[in-house]
Amino acid sequence: MKKLIVANLKMNFTKEEMIDYIKGIKNQISNNFEVVICPSFVYLSMFQNFDYKIGAQDVFYFVQGSYTGEVSPIQLKSLGVSHIIVGHSERRKYFKEDDLLIGKKIKAILKQNIKPIFCVGETLTERQLKKTTNILKNQLLIALKDISKEEIKDIIIAYEPVWAIGSGITPTANQIKEVILYIKKVIMNKYNLEIKVLYGGSVNKENIKSIINLEEVAGLLIGSSSLDPNYFISMLDLIV
Ligand code: PGA
Repeated sequence: MKKLIVANLKMNFTKEEMIDYIKGIKNQISNNFEVVICPSFVYLSMFQNFDYKIGAQDVFYFVQGSYTGEVSPIQLKSLGVSHIIVGHSERRKYFKEDDLLIGKKIKAILKQNIKPIFCVGETLTERQLKKTTNILKNQLLIALKDISKEEIKDIIIAYEPVWAIGSGITPTANQIKEVILYIKKVIMNKYNLEIKVLYGGSVNKENIKSIINLEEVAGLLIGSSSLDPNYFISMLDLIV
């Protein structure tokens, strides 16, 4: 099965810079991967007839209505979005998103046949206090409380330790493996099926090989290292 590469461009680029970015990655990434590029909402329509899949970085959970400033799953669907990142730690931290809200978003995304990329992860303090598994279990079980066995099949989980995001620090391959196996176990216990789990957090040219080579890792969620097309492409060339 192809590994999934998700580029989270976050709140970067002006329109002109985005035009250059699109030119820069066009036709450059190997077919060996399933690639999803997630730009800011405002640029999604620039990605029509694009070589790769497009994703969004967030969504609201109602289909339409008077919710100033929000974007709905159906609107994203009409722009060709196939994946939506949900529960990213930056949303949890800066916008106070909690597990229940994230669960509502996941449900709304699935209703439009879009795949949620559901992010979970512990902070450094939580890891130091040996609370990682407890935290992850809560994040998973609260957000997925209304999700059926039929629905869970379309969800992709991303393990993103908060302390690794944008910090240049990554867990060891063993630590990643251990946590991903734990996530898979929680899902297996609740639904009796295997789920795809991505890793995200300071993936770069130095560590990409050791992470992607882990059998448990279904793909990567990449932030900073996806922003420069040359760096991004040459990093992915290392693992083709
Ligand atoms: P990073 O971001 O690769 O810059 O650490 C990953 C993410 O936030 O998804």
